[in-house]
Amino acid sequence: MKKKSKIAIILGTRPEIIKMSPVIHECIKKNVPFFILHTGQHYSPNMDSVFFKDLGLPKPKYNLGLGNLNYNEQVGKFTRGISEILKKEKPNWVLVQGDTTTVLAGALAANKLGIKVAHHEAGLRSYDTAMLEEVNRILTDNLSDVLFAPTKTSVNNLLKEGIDKKKIHLTGNTVVDAVKRYAASYQKNQILKKIGLKKDKYFLVTAHRAENVDNPERLENILKGLDLVKKHFKGVEILYPLHPRTKKRIASLGFKMPSGINIIEPVGYFEMLQLQKNAKLIITDSGGVQEEAATLRVPLVTLRDNTERPETVDGGFNVLVPGVRPDDILAAVKTMLAKKHQWKKNPFGDGKSAGRIVARLS
Ligand code: UD1
Ligand code: UDP
Repeated sequence: MKKKSKIAIILGTRPEIIKMSPVIHECIKKNVPFFILHTGQHYSPNMDSVFFKDLGLPKPKYNLGLGNLNYNEQVGKFTRGISEILKKEKPNWVLVQGDTTTVLAGALAANKLGIKVAHHEAGLRSYDTAMLEEVNRILTDNLSDVLFAPTKTSVNNLLKEGIDKKKIHLTGNTVVDAVKRYAASYQKNQILKKIGLKKDKYFLVTAHRAENVDNPERLENILKGLDLVKKHFKGVEILYPLHPRTKKRIASLGFKMPSGINIIEPVGYFEMLQLQKNAKLIITDSGGVQEEAATLRVPLVTLRDNTERPETVDGGFNVLVPGVRPDDILAAVKTMLAKKHQWKKNPFGDGKSAGRIVARLS
C-alpha cells in the first residue's frame, strides 16, 4: 500500500487557525500524517489558544513563539525557525492558508528545502501592492506547487498570471466548512444574552487592517463614521470586538472611542459567529468576516478601498467605502439596509473544501 504523505500545517494567526481547523479535523478523520507548526505571530490567548481549545484542535507540535515583531523581522525569523523544523521533520508537503507573513515564510522555507508547497486561498487579488497581504499572496502563489483557489474568480486571476492550469484546483474556502461544522455550537452560544443584545438590534464592527488603523486619518474617519451611524440609527447598538492592533493604535494616538460604541475584547469563534448571524448589518475590514457574512447571509459594509473578495460586492451583499470618510460610511450603511437582498448560491463554496484539499495532498 502507498505510504501516505506527511503534511506540515503551518499557521500563525487567528484566521489561519480557524480556516485550517476543518483541514486538521479531516487529516485526523482520514488518518493522514500531519503536524502543526505555529509561528506565534498571534499569541494573546484570545487571538490564539482560545481557538485551539474551542475548535477541538490538537496543540501545535511546534510553536516558534515569535510574536510582536515588525514585518522584516517576521519574514526573517519565521523563515529561519520554520526551516529548522522542516529539516528535522522532512514533510512531503507544506500547507499554508491565506496571506499573512507566516504564509509567505512557510512558502519561502519550504521552497529553499525543495519541499512542495500547497497554498489554500490562492489567487485572491486586491491589485494593491501597498498591502503587505497582497505581496504575500503573489509571492506565495508563485512559490506553490499546488494552488487551492476558493472561487472561479481566484482561478481566473491565477490563469491570467500565467500559473500552470494543472497546479490549480477549485476547492471552495474552508471557512464555509468551519461555519457549517460549528453551527450547533454557535447557535446555542450565550453571548447575546450575556451582553444584553437582541437580534437585529445591533451593528457588529471589526476593523484592524494596517492600512486603516496605522493611518491616523483613516482611523479617525472610521471612529467618526461609527459615531454618525450610532447617532443616525437610534435604538441600534454598535458592538466592536477590538483587535489588539487597533487597541494599541487608539491608545498610542490618544484617540477616544465615541461614546455609545460598545467595545469588547476579541471573542471566541462560536461567540463571533453568533454575533455575526444576529447582527442587523456588519461593518468590517476583515477578509474572513466578508466570507462569513456572505455565508451567514448578513448584509455587509467593508471599510476598504478595494477587496480581494469581489464576489461579495458582485453578489450585491457588500459595499466598499473607499477613503472611509464618515459621511460615506453612514451612506453605505443606509444603502445596504434599504436594499432587498436576494441571496444567491454562496460564492465561497459548499463546505466540503477540506475534503478536497486533504484528498489532493494525501
Ligand atoms: C495579521 C495579518 C493580517 C490579518 C491579521 C488577522 C500580516 C501582514 N497581517 O495582522 O493580514 O488580517 O493578522 O488578525 O501578516 N498583537 C497582540 N496580540 C496578538 C497579535 C497581535 O497584541 O495575539 C498586536 C502586537 O502588538 C502586534 C500587532 O498586534 O505587533 C500586529 O500583529 P501582527 O500579527 O503583526 O499583524 P496583525 O495586524 O494582527
Ligand atoms: N473572529 C473571531 N473573534 C473576533 C473577531 C474575529 O473569532 O473577535 C474571527 C472571524 O469570525 C473570522 C476571523 O476571526 O473567522 C477573521 O480574522 P481577522 O479579521 O483577524 O483576519 P482576516 O480575515 O482579515 O485576515
